[in-house]
Amino acid sequence: MNSTHKLIMVLSIALTLVLGSLSGAGAEDFSDFVDEKGKISNPGDVRTAWSHLGSWIVPRKSDDQYGFHDVYTRQSTIEAYQKTGQFPDGAMLIREIRNVDSASLPTGKTFWAGVLQSRFVMVKDQQGRFPDNPHWGDGWGWAHFEPENPEVNVSQGYKQDCLDCHVSARGTDYVNVRGYPPLR
Ligand code: HEC
Repeated sequence: MNSTHKLIMVLSIALTLVLGSLSGAGAEDFSDFVDEKGKISNPGDVRTAWSHLGSWIVPRKSDDQYGFHDVYTRQSTIEAYQKTGQFPDGAMLIREIRNVDSASLPTGKTFWAGVLQSRFVMVKDQQGRFPDNPHWGDGWGWAHFEPENPEVNVSQGYKQDCLDCHVSARGTDYVNVRGYPPLR
């Protein structure tokens, strides 16, 4: 490599660093799953890579959210919560609602989580970043995805679609922590 090549290389590395630090100043730094306008994207298969917080079952078919509910977050969020009692900025909670499958097994009449029906996502926002976006408020971003079209947030807005229920957990930052042993 001659000295001109070296100079070009050094300059291009410097330019990359400068551009990287400029673009990292905004929403990108906040979350890999939130764009600069507050659009929340579906984090994909969390069951293999994230930590399991807890499970619920809504056993009656007549109930809206009938099914197995499994909730996941990152290991680092559990660690931060254990230290501070709060969800860190950018923390994500994923709730999957799945079919209830059942059979008579050697354990008895047994139920387990089957096919995915829907996914609910909450993203912690300590700064109120998106005041004009209907999917953000009360300290969180809120989204609902269906498996047929996993990138489309089908929620009309958290005030209509989420808050009525989640207000019952307002004392614990709108999260139903009673079902999550790692947070207790
Ligand atoms: C019918 C009431 C109801 C509605 C509507 C609802 N939720 Fe929930 N949500 C709950 C309850 C209760 C839990 C915990 C127990 C369970 O899953 O059965 C929960 C759990 C969650 C969790 C796991 C964290 C936690 O609070 O335990 C996420 C994430 C979540 N909901 C997101 C949403 C989003 C986003 C919306 C709106 C698009 C929404 N929910 C609408 C009642 C509701």
